[in-house]
Amino acid sequence: MKEEISKVLETAKNEIEKASSVHELQQLKSRYIGKKSVLNSFMQKISTIPKEERPTFGNILNETKNQISELLLNKEQRIKELEYETTLKTESLDLTMPGRKREKGSLHPITKVWWEIEDIFISMGFEVAEGPDIEDEFHNFDALNTPPDHPARDLSDTFYIDNDVLLRTQTSTVQVRVMQKHKPPIKIISPGSCYRNEHDASHSPMFHQVEALVVDEGVTFTDLRDVLNIFIKKMFGEKIESRFRPHFFPFTEPSAEIDIICVKCYGKGCNLCKGSGWLEMGGAGMVDPNVFDILGIDSKKYTGYAFGLGIDRIAMLKYKIPDMRMLFENDIRFLKQF
Ligand code: DAH
Repeated sequence: MKEEISKVLETAKNEIEKASSVHELQQLKSRYIGKKSVLNSFMQKISTIPKEERPTFGNILNETKNQISELLLNKEQRIKELEYETTLKTESLDLTMPGRKREKGSLHPITKVWWEIEDIFISMGFEVAEGPDIEDEFHNFDALNTPPDHPARDLSDTFYIDNDVLLRTQTSTVQVRVMQKHKPPIKIISPGSCYRNEHDASHSPMFHQVEALVVDEGVTFTDLRDVLNIFIKKMFGEKIESRFRPHFFPFTEPSAEIDIICVKCYGKGCNLCKGSGWLEMGGAGMVDPNVFDILGIDSKKYTGYAFGLGIDRIAMLKYKIPDMRMLFENDIRFLKQF
């Protein structure tokens, strides 16, 4: 039996020497010294040999087991070293290669203009008020003196979510919310997103407006003109004049549309202003007493003005962006320029 054991040791030595991977070594380990190994089967035969020979036999078996396990360990270490050396040789690092760049983020042109608008009005004593994008018909239309048969209320113009639930078409909704909550004096601007069913180079189904509302005793149209003039000059430069054209809005009386001198040709006429020398900026007017009455504000005591300007339009003029859709496509090549 001793001879058989030394034969097993010999073959184990050979096979361990030939093994070329850790996986192979694991298989050899279970074959030679594992539970179901050859050496273990010798162990079970120990009862068949004379008692006095058993200790020596046991020693030999243990010795052999230890030797094999040491051989396995040594071989495993050599294999790992070899693997490490080959990785070092094959996976060399090129320290001259350029690293992976992290893109630097920047503010969207609309955010920039939005913040600039807020700063200008805050410097004139306005507070910033916000309202929800999802509105009801009362805040978007009824309270703004817009009758049920007004075309803006049509399903083809306004995005309705449900009966009486819609995406606001104008930030004028916030005037209503502010007047419902606060007594005059009121002096707010309200920037935010609006939604209308329109989509072309100068209209986007989602766009941004800034609304302003001032209510107090003795507020006049002259105040409106002054504030708008100051804003326009601060935004576009001292050279830029503005004018009011008579217009109609259901919630202001009198109402006007605001134009500014073309920022490209300064009034001479060009492709931007389509030859007219003027650019449309938004709507304005004196708050219609009907609106005050609907909201429970004393229309005999108080007067007010309001206006609404397109933030995207201001951004387009300021940064000379020819197509509104570019603002919302999120093309990094475009956005990187700001
Ligand atoms: N909300 C109007 C629009 O979207 C713009 C506007 C006009 C706002 C006159 C006003 C205003 O506050 O007085 O067309």
